[in-house]
Amino acid sequence: MKFFVDTAEIDAIAELNDLGMVDGVTTNPSLIMKSGRDILEVTKEICDLVDGPVSAEVVAMEAEAMIAEGRKLAAIADNIAVKVPLTWDGLKACKVLSGEGRMVNVTLCFSANQALLAAKAGATFISPFIGRLDDINLDGMELIEDIRTIYDNYGFETQILAASIRTVNHITDAARIGADVITAPPAVIKAMANHPLTDKGLETFMKDWAKTGQKIL
Ligand code: E4P
Repeated sequence: MKFFVDTAEIDAIAELNDLGMVDGVTTNPSLIMKSGRDILEVTKEICDLVDGPVSAEVVAMEAEAMIAEGRKLAAIADNIAVKVPLTWDGLKACKVLSGEGRMVNVTLCFSANQALLAAKAGATFISPFIGRLDDINLDGMELIEDIRTIYDNYGFETQILAASIRTVNHITDAARIGADVITAPPAVIKAMANHPLTDKGLETFMKDWAKTGQKIL
């Protein structure tokens, strides 16, 4: 399973990247806004730091303008994946941009049918939003399962990029189902290391070690 980091914060990306935990990065207009940075500048910095795909999202609403924005974003670096929304215009833009050999991430996917259309339009990645479905009492993970089944039934090569991940359990479930990629905020990826029994066990070991009076270094 590949790990993408869902942020435009350079320091957070760098910390995880140094540990080999970053296979790619996803950004969106809200994350760019939170970073307070210029989209072209910050995206270039991320692309210089990370080898894998870096998603940069178009903000136009019509296909022709999305295509123009996509080409401009793709010119930032070879590892840009142009992110387009799952609208009819977004699918048109996906078809053209993927036909030009660019990576395309189709985002804001909330149904299996939407994912099917994105695959047929040549998407490199489909981004189903788990957390936002859970927020309205639907089962985000069921959507990942449905897409996995449909893509496997027909051999679609579009990668399932489980997005809007809010908890470590979302990551376990997405991995169990066989999502190709997860994108999660840095804090959620780091929280995967936590376990109360690890903390408790370490506390006991440290107390017993102190009783030995020994030192390793
Ligand atoms: C994915 O590419 C999106 O940037 C992201 O996962 C959205 O997550 P949110 O629903 O927590 O904003």
